[in-house]
Amino acid sequence: MKKPGAITVKKITRESGEWRTRFEAFYSDCEIKRVDDREHAYFAAYSGDEIAGHSVVYLEEGRWILSGLRVKPEFRERGIAKLLTEARLSYAIGKGAREIWYACDDGNLVTICCHVRYGFEKICPDSHHCTAATAHWYRLKVTPGLFKKFPGVKPPAAGGKA
Ligand SMILES: CC(C)(COP(=O)(O)OP(=O)(O)OC[C@H]1O[C@@H](n2cnc3c(N)ncnc32)[C@H](O)[C@@H]1OP(=O)(O)O)[C@@H](O)C(=O)NCCC(=O)NCCS
Repeated sequence: MKKPGAITVKKITRESGEWRTRFEAFYSDCEIKRVDDREHAYFAAYSGDEIAGHSVVYLEEGRWILSGLRVKPEFRERGIAKLLTEARLSYAIGKGAREIWYACDDGNLVTICCHVRYGFEKICPDSHHCTAATAHWYRLKVTPGLFKKFPGVKPPAAGGKA
């Protein structure tokens, strides 16, 4: 794997017009779920001022869900997806999440690699008839072992919700 270089991962604290323009451009050729009407946090990886990677975590029906993970082709295989995933896991855990979810279709093997490493497991409810074309839900149970294995995933602050 190439070295990460000077990459900084930040939560987007101000969803300003300038950020939104860059956000729309970043995802212009793919669909991203719109989550602005629910609790959420966007995380971006910057190389200088350039957005190298972007992602979101949002709360829906009591579940914290990871979505929109994307790294620009020229920045891939440097660990940026892992940094963005660990930042979002830490954020949701800080908000009290005991489980974290994401959905992915079977064809997206690299994304599965980025998540399964953390212990996400495929959950197929009885009512869900899986085919190669359907998206499947994956769930990560937050356990003390997660923090030991991945020091980049931060436990909730003392007195926090989890
Ligand atoms: C999937 C994606 C986010 C990975 O980003 P990345 O920054 O290159 O990933 P990382 O360097 O953090 O690697 C994370 C893990 O993913 C796996 N992985 C990443 N790239 C891989 C590749 N080309 N082949 C096999 N496994 C790969 C590895 O398991 C890796 O961990 P390891 O190196 O410790 O084994 C990136 O390839 C991407 O953005 N793909 C397009 C996704 C997209 O456009 N989705 C639509 C969203 S709207």
